[in-house]
Amino acid sequence: MSPNEISLARYRRRAAGYDASAEFTMPLRLRTIALLALAPGDVVIDVGAGTGLSFAPLLAAVGERGRVLAFEHSPEMFEQATERIARAGWGERVHLQRARAEEVVLPQPADAVLFNYVHDISRIPAAVDNVMRQVKPGGRVAMAGMKFFPWWTGPLNLLAWAKNRPYNALAADLWRPWDHVQPWCEGFERRSTQFGMGYIAHGRRRR
Ligand SMILES: C[S@@+](CC[C@H](N)C(=O)[O-])C[C@H]1O[C@@H](n2cnc3c(N)ncnc32)[C@H](O)[C@@H]1O
Repeated sequence: MSPNEISLARYRRRAAGYDASAEFTMPLRLRTIALLALAPGDVVIDVGAGTGLSFAPLLAAVGERGRVLAFEHSPEMFEQATERIARAGWGERVHLQRARAEEVVLPQPADAVLFNYVHDISRIPAAVDNVMRQVKPGGRVAMAGMKFFPWWTGPLNLLAWAKNRPYNALAADLWRPWDHVQPWCEGFERRSTQFGMGYIAHGRRRR
């Protein structure tokens, strides 16, 4: 099976319980979104938006004139995101597409882009390239996700792998999960989170 097929199968099983399992990541999600320094009127891409847990904080930051451009490949996650938009009455303020990161074509260039826990996307160069081409030069980039502990911690990385595996097809590729996004950026800064098992990073798309 390809990484995409594995990912689709994983989220077919996980979609129903996803929001409950992601509850504890909300503070980190808000921290990552804050790094985008969004302003009223901005257009922001939510990469692999899942069930749409980032929509409310992104919309709060971009205001009534701003817009969230979101895409997601799993039908089950997409359906939940669609329901979230309808329940909240966000209408056109959130543009949601069911599409793969490798092929998605968004309706307008963006001022900022969020990669929140989308390891299977950020590890595919063609997917990263396609998304980053749709961000304006100078646009803000923020990402967060899991990574391995330093190599000398040895077996501890079994824990990182085991925690990542239920969600990601490319779960063993956790040494430098940001390194396809970083070359697109200037001023890229990164720090560890979760005692070394996570990272948060930000920069600006190169001009
Ligand atoms: C861990 S979830 C994160 C969802 C959301 N970003 C969040 O912060 O809650 C990863 C999401 O990426 C989606 N995904 C994985 N590979 C993808 C691809 N190639 N194109 C689009 N979506 C993808 C999965 O279906 C899943 O919904």
